[in-house]
Amino acid sequence: MKNIAVVTGASSGMGREMAIQIGDRFSGIDQIWVVARRGERLAELVGQTPAKIRIFAEDITAPEGRRAVRDALEAENGGDVSAAGKEKTAVRILVNAAGFGVMGDSMETDEEVQCRMIRLNCEALFAFTRMLLPYMGKNSRIIQFASAAAFAPQPHFAVYAATKAFVLSYSRALGAELRHRGICVTAVCPGPVDTEFFDRAGGIGRIPAYKKLAMADPEKVVRKALADSMAQKEISVYGLPMKAFALLAKIAPHRIFLGI
Ligand SMILES: NC(=O)c1ccc[n+]([C@@H]2O[C@H](COP(=O)([O-])OP(=O)(O)OC[C@H]3O[C@@H](n4cnc5c(N)ncnc54)[C@H](OP(=O)(O)O)[C@@H]3O)[C@@H](O)[C@H]2O)c1
Repeated sequence: MKNIAVVTGASSGMGREMAIQIGDRFSGIDQIWVVARRGERLAELVGQTPAKIRIFAEDITAPEGRRAVRDALEAENGGDVSAAGKEKTAVRILVNAAGFGVMGDSMETDEEVQCRMIRLNCEALFAFTRMLLPYMGKNSRIIQFASAAAFAPQPHFAVYAATKAFVLSYSRALGAELRHRGICVTAVCPGPVDTEFFDRAGGIGRIPAYKKLAMADPEKVVRKALADSMAQKEISVYGLPMKAFALLAKIAPHRIFLGI
């Protein structure tokens, strides 16, 4: 049996950090399959961790991009996925970190960009998870990158926050569905993290000052996410400010946040 981890969005930020920390910390993981569009950035991971890196330079919003990973798994398992848990190559950790957000009013932001966000953050995350589940057995882990934006609606980041509310809701329900199979699902809900995310989101200059102050280190967010996943936690929230926000969003009416 070969144990692998699959990490989407591994060419930068928290996905990249996930690949490195999984390789460093889990000696039982033989290979890490890393997925993103920029193959040259994925190639930089080779040699950075003790685990072998296998590169999938794919756009996972395209069904054929996702299928490249499934085809590779099928090939390794002789095409037989009927007996989950008995595969020759099993996915022990799946991390869905691929995602992006764009700031701005939804009526003023390009429609196609927002549709692409929904396709990547929601559709691709769901389809990728569903596609790999037949290869996952007892004591496996799924780590889904949601966001603290999932806790309450966010004007000027409306579609992004809505996609992350989807990820949080889906992940919690999926975790309940998979409990009897011994597969644990953790939704990671960080506040602002210092990655390339904000270059794509519209530039660091557009971030409100309170978000800049709360900007977290990706290495620490990922360390906590992995620890929470191992502890079988449903949700991973890094840092006191975001824990306070999560609590507030539970008890305060959401119209308060809409007014801020
Ligand atoms: N940074 C934050 O403040 C923050 C806060 C809360 C939650 N999050 C969430 O955390 C996750 C990781 O974000 P990050 O901060 O690490 O951002 P990042 O550095 O921009 O990384 C995003 C990753 O997604 C990949 N990606 C984008 N489009 C893709 C596509 N069509 N197919 C395959 N891969 C694609 C990118 O790779 P390629 O461009 O090479 O394809 C990149 O590896 C995201 O889901 C994000 O929404 C981020």
